[in-house]
Amino acid sequence: MGVFIRKAMESDVDPINRIAATSWYHTYKEIYDTEEIEKWIDRNYSPEALQKHISMVEGDRNYLFIVALMENNIVGFMEMKIKNQIAHLLRIYLNPDHIGNGIGTELLRHGENWMLSNGKRQLTVSVHKKNLPGMKFYEARGFRFKEEIEEDIILEKNLAGS
Ligand SMILES: CC(C)(COP(=O)(O)OP(=O)(O)OC[C@H]1O[C@@H](n2cnc3c(N)ncnc32)[C@H](O)[C@@H]1OP(=O)(O)O)[C@@H](O)C(=O)NCCC(=O)NCCS
Repeated sequence: MGVFIRKAMESDVDPINRIAATSWYHTYKEIYDTEEIEKWIDRNYSPEALQKHISMVEGDRNYLFIVALMENNIVGFMEMKIKNQIAHLLRIYLNPDHIGNGIGTELLRHGENWMLSNGKRQLTVSVHKKNLPGMKFYEARGFRFKEEIEEDIILEKNLAGS
């Protein structure tokens, strides 16, 4: 498949911004208004916001922000954070053209190895309850329902048991 995974760098902000915008429309177009999506992308995924964030998390052992590349092009990204002994999958988004080819699984595997190397076994993620493909992905990768909070489903995975 030829996927290469490495840490996100400040010079990756433009492709990450493009993937976030495309993936958000793809994933949430039936869930949120276009305006809401635009605002979210502007606030959280503008090149400036991303640059600030990447430089902040770069030297922080509790964060993992990685990108997946195919033929030197960034095709997806994922971020995890360890807080109170638990790893939280904060975001995982692919270029929609590359969905369903195992890249998400590779990013997740990388994140799980990182957790284990930090001595952490519990992983949690929040998914919008209408994001059914997202939910299927997590369930296929061993996550189980924990609770529902407003519009979100919280899923968890214990690496010791998988
Ligand atoms: C969710 C996402 C990261 C998964 O990555 P991916 O590379 O597409 O997934 P993989 O190819 O590794 O697939 C793994 C499993 O997920 C399931 N899956 C993935 N995409 C699916 C889809 N569109 N519909 C149904 N199931 C899907 C499959 O069951 C597959 O399991 P299998 O290999 O045992 O059959 C990716 O599809 C994506 O970016 N989606 C849009 C953004 C999103 O929803 N992010 C999560 C927000 S919380």
